[in-house]
Amino acid sequence: MSSLSSNEASEGTVPRIAIAGATGRVGTALISALRDDDVDIVALTRNADPARLREGLSLAAVDFGKPSSLSDALRGADRLFLAHGTSAQQVENEIALIDAAVAAGVSHIVKLSVMGPASRLHPFDWHMQIEAHLAHHDIGYTILRPSSFVDILARAAGPVAAGTWGGAAGNGCVNLIDTRDVADTARIALLDTSHAGSQRAYHLTGPAAISMPEVAYELSHILGRSVTYHHRTPDEQRAVLTEAGISELVADVLLGIDRLFRESVLAETTATFEDLTGKAPRSVGAWLSENIAAFRKG
Ligand SMILES: NC(=O)c1ccc[n+]([C@@H]2O[C@H](COP(=O)([O-])OP(=O)(O)OC[C@H]3O[C@@H](n4cnc5c(N)ncnc54)[C@H](OP(=O)(O)O)[C@@H]3O)[C@@H](O)[C@H]2O)c1
Repeated sequence: MSSLSSNEASEGTVPRIAIAGATGRVGTALISALRDDDVDIVALTRNADPARLREGLSLAAVDFGKPSSLSDALRGADRLFLAHGTSAQQVENEIALIDAAVAAGVSHIVKLSVMGPASRLHPFDWHMQIEAHLAHHDIGYTILRPSSFVDILARAAGPVAAGTWGGAAGNGCVNLIDTRDVADTARIALLDTSHAGSQRAYHLTGPAAISMPEVAYELSHILGRSVTYHHRTPDEQRAVLTEAGISELVADVLLGIDRLFRESVLAETTATFEDLTGKAPRSVGAWLSENIAAFRKG
């Protein structure tokens, strides 16, 4: 299969990459990772305020209620990076973007999915539905299935500072991955022409699994004071989340994640990141050190 889409072949050699979820964690890191590459980027966003993205970047406003806005945003794009924030509209919106991309002649889609077993839990079930839809199209795609992002620890910053950090993850382990490593993999999947036209899935993890009490131990070491992860039952944790004003959908997602952590479902270590990039994945300890200021605030 050719590595060039009809859009690339007809309009020159610089590939045009559309990035959905460009203002998000992985999308922002991907735009940084592509900074020195000879590509033409168009960032898709529901709020095309230039202040939200790097100066000089092309923005395309999308409104999922208006399918023509998706077609317009993807016109001339050769490849699409597809990420979407966790929301009840995720399946519908990602499927609409996939269909619009196929109709626009995009040759390759790199979809941000999630690592984990087939499950009824959100967002795992949503990603299964979107992946299944993608598989119906005759298009090249790379599915990135990362384990949980290390950024989820940012939620712990305030509670750690207040001495109230805890959850229902028990002593189970999870192999957290840095979103910049996910973005580096996405960059390769978008640029490496050996991926063009093929259909693959990659399971991405950090270098080692860690438990929440071990994260507390690392934080204690960096902060120079004792940090404790308070063990709670799922019901106790739900009450804490509700009290904090977290929506039921998000509370369900967070409790589902705690359960996966507690059962060490996402504890495996894959060599995929290193194989693809030639680099070692970033560690949880490095991320905590980089972001430690947030854990100090009172
Ligand atoms: N968090 C984890 O630990 C983890 C682990 C593995 C996989 N994942 C998957 O990674 C994806 C999230 O990636 P991310 O963290 O880079 O995304 P994110 O920062 O949460 O959001 C990405 C972007 O999605 C856009 N978006 C469009 N419609 C949206 C809607 N209805 N609700 C929320 N956002 C919407 C937003 O951009 P605009 O506002 O500019 O339109 C937002 O900036 C999810 O599919 C998740 O399942 C997450």
